[in-house]
Amino acid sequence: MKTSGGSDAMKRRAGESAAEAVTDGDVVGLGTGSTAAHAIRRIGDRVDAGLDARGVPTSFASRELARDAGVPCLGLPEAVGPDGPGIDVAIDGADRVAIGRGDDPAVGPLIKGGGAAHAREKLVDAAADRFLVVADPSKETPVLDRSVPVEVLPAGRSAVAEAVRAAGGEPTLRRAERKDGPVVTDNGNLVFDASFGEIDDPASLATTLSTTPGVVEHGLFVGLADEVHVGTASGVRVAR
Ligand code: 5RP
Repeated sequence: MKTSGGSDAMKRRAGESAAEAVTDGDVVGLGTGSTAAHAIRRIGDRVDAGLDARGVPTSFASRELARDAGVPCLGLPEAVGPDGPGIDVAIDGADRVAIGRGDDPAVGPLIKGGGAAHAREKLVDAAADRFLVVADPSKETPVLDRSVPVEVLPAGRSAVAEAVRAAGGEPTLRRAERKDGPVVTDNGNLVFDASFGEIDDPASLATTLSTTPGVVEHGLFVGLADEVHVGTASGVRVAR
């Protein structure tokens, strides 16, 4: 399995490239993580320079960052409600991006949720007219091979763990790095990292997880991404 990571310069190129796709009047879904952070800062610079854009944050962290960067924000219910403006474009990172090789370099499904923000990220990314993924080359893979983050209601923890095992996976409760206890999401829930090895049929696994009682949201994003901006050592590659 590839490791997460990639250089910050590559992440910055990816984030800044996608931020250039924002146009005057846009409402922008603001993703979570170190690559999306570069996009948020770049949008902030463009707002400073006169761009009329508003953000819809996907986490407490992206809301704070948007505030610091000077990007005015609105909430998701306000954006997508009956009188809301909608979301024109979302820019978000990923832990794995399936990109076809050879004759078929098309963007496939993603794994997200390394920052445990995937429930709100999926709401915002799915609601956007266009969803741009920002990544460095370490995230690209022909077949999804990373554990899938699964946000669960605390009371559903045992039942969901059993369901993950029944689906052929091995769940590990995510623990906080610097605290003695589990990771608690912005929504007050727990996260399993569910390892399934190579995922041959992400759509089927996504349906299984989505229909498991106690699962709030999982990190398989199938059929949502419109393009991926991959920051490289020398520039940016865009896959659609
Ligand atoms: C958070 C996410 C992030 O977008 C994903 O983990 C990528 O993060 P980074 O850009 O820091 O590598 O899904 O829930």
